[in-house]
Amino acid sequence: MLLINIGQLLTLHSSAVKQGPRRGADLKQLGILEDAAVLCIGGKIVSVGTTKDALRDPWIRKNRKQLAEIDCGGNVVIPGFVDSHTHPVFVSPRLVDFEKRIEGASYEEIAAAGGGIRSSLEGVRQAAMSKLTAKVLRVLQDMAAHGTTTVEAKSGYGLTLESELKSLEAIREASDGWAGTVVPTLLGAHVVPKEFQGCSQKYVEIVCKEMIPRAAKRNLAQFVDVFCDKGAFAPEETEQIFAAAKEDGLSVRAHMGQLSETALAPLLRFNPASFDHMDHVNNEDVKQLAKLDTITTLVPGANYFLGLKSYPDARRFIDAGVPVALATDYNPGTSPTISMPMAMSLACTQMKMSPAEAIAAATINGAWALRLADRKGSIEPGKDADLAVFDVEDYREVPYWYGVNHCRMTVLNGVIAASD
Ligand code: NIG
Ligand code: FE
Repeated sequence: MLLINIGQLLTLHSSAVKQGPRRGADLKQLGILEDAAVLCIGGKIVSVGTTKDALRDPWIRKNRKQLAEIDCGGNVVIPGFVDSHTHPVFVSPRLVDFEKRIEGASYEEIAAAGGGIRSSLEGVRQAAMSKLTAKVLRVLQDMAAHGTTTVEAKSGYGLTLESELKSLEAIREASDGWAGTVVPTLLGAHVVPKEFQGCSQKYVEIVCKEMIPRAAKRNLAQFVDVFCDKGAFAPEETEQIFAAAKEDGLSVRAHMGQLSETALAPLLRFNPASFDHMDHVNNEDVKQLAKLDTITTLVPGANYFLGLKSYPDARRFIDAGVPVALATDYNPGTSPTISMPMAMSLACTQMKMSPAEAIAAATINGAWALRLADRKGSIEPGKDADLAVFDVEDYREVPYWYGVNHCRMTVLNGVIAASD
């Protein structure tokens, strides 16, 4: 495949930036090439350069007829988004919660009154796997139509051994039917289900002794996630679950600081890939994170949808040298959006990230958050052919035109998906 006449190609590759996840000023280095071309063969990027040089290249001239040629007509091409935090395995939207919140109830009040995560459990427990698979596949396709090519997908709305494994199997089946890349995460520790209220330790044991070993053995998950917060799991329980994950060879990540502040230091020995949400974090932890490769994943869609006035302090993290990523947090309770451009728009307007920072956070740092930066997140020879073509002239238009999809085409591991 040969893409030519790219107005701005955001390679996200620059020899001037430091190794590792992007931090501080490096987050703005987009490695822009104008009037560019990209050659992809066998699902990989083979070369990147100007259109003029590509069309003069002897190999390309000789083989041009066999290449699918895509004239980008001056459009912007960026690395496919890496949405590193999503919860796609659920059955129904939570419309009653939506209305209650509009009338003034908070996320925690709604959960205490029987809404929230617990109200999504019955649907998943009863659903046939094929129904869940179809739902997840539809979401993946919608995401691709908006420029996303890699998705982290969590279980977490079944919360029994059987329904968590069923959710992970649905993720696997759906990803088999999708050209992009899916990273599965076991979120058995999403909330303590009603049956275990008052004896959360018993439930934690099921997570540690049944869910994690079974998911690991069947290769159904790469990560284990925990919702560590008031009303969910305590820091000690989180440590216990992380220890079980490590024992079975799975990497860890956690929802931290969404509703209240929890010290991060005790969890660092598990080398978490990311801490997500991070609305409430202390200064010591910020300093510590600046020295590590653990990514702080910001999900402003959740703050927006919950109608909160405050957003995570992205500038504080970036200015301190903490590597940040952006993700949708797609889920029925706090962030029912599949759109990375929407998350980026919120990052710009509500968290004061620049469009350039938002792009890097949604691509290369998302790849770091999933430990896939060797294959994903930038456009350079050797990496997977994951690209998104936006029908705009300037990359800053991607977060600018909120609420409308300007993604014209996505390339997922070398396979083309048109958006319209
Ligand atoms: O990331 N915070 C925990 N999990 C989700 C919310 C899930 C839900 O409300 O269904 C989140 O915001
Ligand atoms: Fe989440």
